[in-house]
Amino acid sequence: MVKIAQIGVGYWGPNLLRNLMANQRCEVTAAVDISAERRHYVQRLYPAIRITGNVNEALDDAETDAVVISTPVATHFDLAMKALDAGKHVLVEKPMAKSVADVEEIGRLAHKNHRIAMVGHTFLFNAAVRYVKKLIDAGELGDLRYIYSQRLNLGRIRSDVDALWNLAPHDISIIQYWLGNPTPLSVSRRGVDIIQNGIDDVVFMNILYPNKIMANIHVSWLDPNKVRSITVVGSKKMVVYDDMADNKIAIYDKGIDRKAVLGENMDYDNQHFPVFNYRSGDVLMPRVDFQEPLKVEIDHFLDCIEHGVECITGVEHAKKVVEILVANVIY
Ligand SMILES: NC(=O)c1ccc[n+]([C@@H]2O[C@H](COP(=O)([O-])OP(=O)(O)OC[C@H]3O[C@@H](n4cnc5c(N)ncnc54)[C@H](O)[C@@H]3O)[C@@H](O)[C@H]2O)c1
Repeated sequence: MVKIAQIGVGYWGPNLLRNLMANQRCEVTAAVDISAERRHYVQRLYPAIRITGNVNEALDDAETDAVVISTPVATHFDLAMKALDAGKHVLVEKPMAKSVADVEEIGRLAHKNHRIAMVGHTFLFNAAVRYVKKLIDAGELGDLRYIYSQRLNLGRIRSDVDALWNLAPHDISIIQYWLGNPTPLSVSRRGVDIIQNGIDDVVFMNILYPNKIMANIHVSWLDPNKVRSITVVGSKKMVVYDDMADNKIAIYDKGIDRKAVLGENMDYDNQHFPVFNYRSGDVLMPRVDFQEPLKVEIDHFLDCIEHGVECITGVEHAKKVVEILVANVIY
């Protein structure tokens, strides 16, 4: 039984806490929040939990093995370092920290103290995202051409981070996972701050990967519709992953191939006689067995702690996501 304290029970924290409470493999030793209102809220939900406004009270508890941190991004580094220093494993909400140097320091301390440092990139524990990963790895889509994602809605506006830092960690972590965590060749982005000065409400980010694979990420909290969609275009097939749909994955047997015409068009480098074959076959919507991603995420955290399983959202993955978030090359 792994004993876990949770720090931060604002908007997102209660979802983690609900999953920790329901998990038979762990026990919640404390919930911490500096807001009296949030402490009161959690106390009413779970009268049996020890609730405190003092982080040290939870960290000083020798019984506690691990800490889940669901506070604003600016506090992640300090809280994670304190928890690791106190000998706890940490699961930090996304993104792990505000800078690459901070993520590296968290990684160093975790390594030194033989503790797990994991980031809550929830979508890597989502069955649909994992299904697409399997399709890509099995070569079902052929060579990947490009990927574009849209994560849009009207709200929820934040003041501590912009739309990129709030929403794009999801898309970046998904795309990095699908591609095997590569280092991009270039990253560019453009955003606009409309509602609050200096805080972008809408951002378009473009990432160029090796092998001419391009990814485009569009995030916004100033949009008429809630959209959570990623399209992957491969040379053999194309996939649309729509997190809002009942059937989350649609696999299109579509593509464009160059047609060989005996005797005249065998030289594909000859641009003068382009003959193309437009393939438009069936659309497959596979059944994907779904489990709540936060349950899978917490089970993975427990597997890392108890059985030494390699963490799929460990420091290396967390660092790449932050590297891409801070990259700002405008061509
Ligand atoms: N994985 C996801 O899908 C997902 C979704 C939403 C938010 N998040 C992440 O969760 C984290 C929290 O986001 P949120 O929307 O819940 O924010 P929030 O502002 O609603 O809640 C944060 C809570 O942390 C508390 N807090 C702040 N500093 C603290 C400290 N030093 N010690 C103890 N408590 C402290 C605040 O009082 C507040 O109740 C962020 O990192 C965010 O990126 C993840």
